[in-house]
Amino acid sequence: MRLLVTGGLGFIGSNFIAGALRREDVDKVVNIDNLSFGANRMSLKQYERHPTYNFVRGDINDTRLLCRYLDETDVMLNFAAETHVDRSISDPRDFVRSNVLGVYSILESLRKAKDDVKLIHVGTDEEYGDIVHGSFKEEDRLIPSSPYAASKAAASMLIRAYHRTYGLKAIITRCTNNFGPHQSPEKLVPKTIIRAGFGLKIPLYGKGRNIRDWVYVKDHCEAIDAVLRKGKSGQVYNISSGVELENFEVVSAILELLGKPLSLIEHVEDRPGHDLRYSLDSSKIRNQLSWKPKHSFRRALAKTVEWYLKNENWWKPLTDERVLHPTPWKLSW
Ligand SMILES: NC(=O)c1ccc[n+]([C@@H]2O[C@H](COP(=O)([O-])OP(=O)(O)OC[C@H]3O[C@@H](n4cnc5c(N)ncnc54)[C@H](O)[C@@H]3O)[C@@H](O)[C@H]2O)c1
Repeated sequence: MRLLVTGGLGFIGSNFIAGALRREDVDKVVNIDNLSFGANRMSLKQYERHPTYNFVRGDINDTRLLCRYLDETDVMLNFAAETHVDRSISDPRDFVRSNVLGVYSILESLRKAKDDVKLIHVGTDEEYGDIVHGSFKEEDRLIPSSPYAASKAAASMLIRAYHRTYGLKAIITRCTNNFGPHQSPEKLVPKTIIRAGFGLKIPLYGKGRNIRDWVYVKDHCEAIDAVLRKGKSGQVYNISSGVELENFEVVSAILELLGKPLSLIEHVEDRPGHDLRYSLDSSKIRNQLSWKPKHSFRRALAKTVEWYLKNENWWKPLTDERVLHPTPWKLSW
């Protein structure tokens, strides 16, 4: 199987590629990434000379580039996106460019491709918006709150339309919050580990009561692998662990693992439009594709903390004032 991965130097994409390169039936992995926010070449440095891996620096908006590689591809997996909600609030432009126009460019490239290449597009729970009680199912309406979520929902709509109108083979996955190795130090879990290590305060939006469902990144990658092999074109698959925690609980668990006091937590002004709770019903992928998460939250979190402590050379070059500044959460919106 020949895979074309976009955004494979980011958090989830790099974990996915590392797993794919270990699979016997994967003959080729081309990774196109424009090295924007979230990317780190070090994540896949050890594979740069791997016989079946090829990194290409490029943009998903470059239709000609995509077409060149699509002729030798069986499945395309799109992880490429601008992903930081706070950045999307400060300036949504790049989010529309990569997450909406970039997906349009992918769809047009697929329409021009000689062979029927299947697209697997990695979406997010944030497309549905928040929910106070219960959990969203795949057929529920998308009511996104942030510019990031809106750009991802727009991509979903385009993919659905291209499937219906042009018969393009495409599947959308929507997963909840991921954690694990290779995640940008600006995101909650790595930022908490890094700042706590320096004895710095941990900023927490509002009262820290926002609820997210937490999936270990390797479980998410296995879910994508199941979709790649057994998923049906035109379908959406929700991916979730069922481990729903308040942000305060996640930060407290990290501080406990590090032996640091809860007094490091500093409540700060809430994010505008902050969704209270995300929750997905993932019974479809569990029942139809036999996927379920294998890692317990506590053990996976301990492994994640250990990874960041041991891999300072991975995150140090990415740790700018947004991570270490006394008030890094305060972006200018
Ligand atoms: N992190 C999560 O918790 C989570 C949860 C659910 C879904 N997702 C989705 O999974 C995907 C991957 O998320 P992530 O956390 O790994 O993000 P990330 O920010 O770590 O990585 C995104 C990657 O895409 C690349 N990229 C961005 N724009 C590009 C462009 N125009 N052309 C080529 N490459 C481009 C970046 O350079 C980066 O390597 C995203 O689509 C995101 O919406 C993430």
